[in-house]
Amino acid sequence: MIQFPNKFYWGAATSSYQVEGNNSNADWWPWEILAGKEHSAQACRHYELYEQDFDLAKDLNHNAHRLSIEWSRIEPQEGKFSEEALEHYIHVIKALRSRGIEPMVTLHHFTNPIWFSASGGWVKPGSVKRFLLYCDFVVSALAPYVHFWFTINEPTIYYSHSYLWGMWPPQAKSFLKTKAVHDHMVAGHIAAYRLIHKIYKDLKQDPPAVSIAQHMQAIVGCTPSLKNRLAVAMREQLFNLEFIDHLTRHKTLDFIGVNYYSRHLVHVHSWWIGNLLMETCKDNHHPFKKNSLGWDIYPQGLCHVLLSLKKYNLPVIIAENGICIADDRERWEFIQSHLKNVHLAMEQGVNVVGYLYWALMDNFEWAQGFTPRFGLIDIDYNTQQRTVRESAKKYAQVCKTGILD
Ligand code: BGC
Repeated sequence: MIQFPNKFYWGAATSSYQVEGNNSNADWWPWEILAGKEHSAQACRHYELYEQDFDLAKDLNHNAHRLSIEWSRIEPQEGKFSEEALEHYIHVIKALRSRGIEPMVTLHHFTNPIWFSASGGWVKPGSVKRFLLYCDFVVSALAPYVHFWFTINEPTIYYSHSYLWGMWPPQAKSFLKTKAVHDHMVAGHIAAYRLIHKIYKDLKQDPPAVSIAQHMQAIVGCTPSLKNRLAVAMREQLFNLEFIDHLTRHKTLDFIGVNYYSRHLVHVHSWWIGNLLMETCKDNHHPFKKNSLGWDIYPQGLCHVLLSLKKYNLPVIIAENGICIADDRERWEFIQSHLKNVHLAMEQGVNVVGYLYWALMDNFEWAQGFTPRFGLIDIDYNTQQRTVRESAKKYAQVCKTGILD
């Protein structure tokens, strides 16, 4: 039996574009159509059905919920801010609060307004100022109801998928653009962090807690060869810690948000830098169970990445951790085994203060569309019927008691 602290944030996460539906002012919307991908369309219609969804979260004993604000709804045209959209999100946050659920709010979760992308998006230095104007509008209004902010979700995934591998809009494959987006996101976070703190100070409110949600993978060498060990060390630094290092150097993280899903197997055949940074194992050296997208299920990796954060001496929130799978029993096994590893890291001194499962409900999984099922709650996309899965009920017991059997 494992006992978590009495005061612990338990819940689940979502992002606006993946659940709300009809986000036709966001850059993903036209891209899905042009690229011939599954269309996000109505998604889970969470924009209308959020009260119902939060009732379910409350029934499942969640005391925290991570959601994102859709920039393209707030600022559908440059400089034209929508009071109506802002009102909507105030209602959403109040709906959580009235159910005793702590809102944790992300300002940027992969999508941008179409006008922003059309003018060069995060590649352009002006992106930082544009992002700040949006943050100012939202945070000034939501500050009275929100304590936890995530400025940017998974910057490393955003710039690698959109600007290096060319997999997501705008499908660039450019090292220079990737570097520019990286730099502007670092600057964007630092400026937004300072702005958010200033807004709270001016409003004479207690200081907020501001962070990013950092995607972290367990990076595992297939053999202990020197090349593999060097490659592991380089990748841990570059993919997991480099972004955080910039922000801690500027003292702009109040806690660390971690998104953890899987591991990355390293097997390097040459000393060339490209191999050291990119080459993965093509053999099946260490077979592990996989989720329905083929990602290894590797619970011990969560303990490993958490221990790598110990040196920062900051509280940690697991901002996402989840599995897409057809057999729901495997979801519960996933949650159990990952929570055990969260606890192991806590025993070794990592100050984890919350765990949010990804996701509260099935949703639009970006380029993969609606097939992967990550939710604690099943969505029937024809009827929009919600059905609570068995794994969600088991997790609800942990949320209620803090005890994992
Ligand atoms: C993202 C989510 C995504 C999840 C599963 C994370 O990278 O923040 O938007 O749905 O992983 O792929």
